[in-house]
Amino acid sequence: MLTGAGISAESGLATFRASDGLWEDHRIEDVATPEAFARDPGLVHDFYNARRARLGEVEPDAAHRALARLDVEWPGELLVVTQNVDDLHERAGSRRLLHMHGELRGGWCTACNNRFRWDGPMDSFARCPKCALPGLIRPDIVWFGEMPYEMEAIDAALMACDLFVAIGTSGAVYPAAGFVQTAAYRGAATLEINLEPSQGRIFFDEHRFGLAGVEVPKWVDELLTDAA
Ligand code: APR
Repeated sequence: MLTGAGISAESGLATFRASDGLWEDHRIEDVATPEAFARDPGLVHDFYNARRARLGEVEPDAAHRALARLDVEWPGELLVVTQNVDDLHERAGSRRLLHMHGELRGGWCTACNNRFRWDGPMDSFARCPKCALPGLIRPDIVWFGEMPYEMEAIDAALMACDLFVAIGTSGAVYPAAGFVQTAAYRGAATLEINLEPSQGRIFFDEHRFGLAGVEVPKWVDELLTDAA
């Protein structure tokens, strides 16, 4: 399963590509590339500090909770791969979860390669909790032009899965946007749950259009009823 910003929209977190989305107010090349961070780390820290602080004001929604229920009750294998850097899946209770684009509540030391939990604001003087060198840590976020995390594990899951489901993602950003094609090529059934048809809509066998908070609990109910 692949999730994107749409699954956290009903929790109150902005998506990226909506008319009131994050990429309307900020240019990707100013806040979400390694070059932007090298040029103006303060601006990049401000952007992620605000988003990290916002996590303290929101709660998981019905879609996160339904996927956490699936994690507990599904008798077979399951993997949620999220592009989201919020922590709402794990706060709802999902355990079989990979954050392919990193985590807002994480830092990464570019000196000693340590990745660690980071809850408060981060600035250019912040020190790595392990090597203690100042000025060399950054938000643990995969920026444009960087390699997403866990690609080997994700590829293995795509090769082996019987069903691939994408929830709340526009299908605009690779490699995640290509997962549906890999899974379908290997014989998996494919389902898209989204507010509107995504850019990859033609690659999915089945579509359910509507709010994730309504459609995901309904789908999970059906799946668990069929499996019982
Ligand atoms: N329920 C279901 N779908 C929704 C909802 C909702 N309540 N609200 C919005 N959506 C859909 C939108 O219609 C859109 O297709 O969620 C999708 C969100 O798309 P994007 O804003 O592009 O977010 P995402 O696909 O997660 O972006 C991918 O792009 O900028 C990068 O790294 C960032 O991980 C992010 C990646």
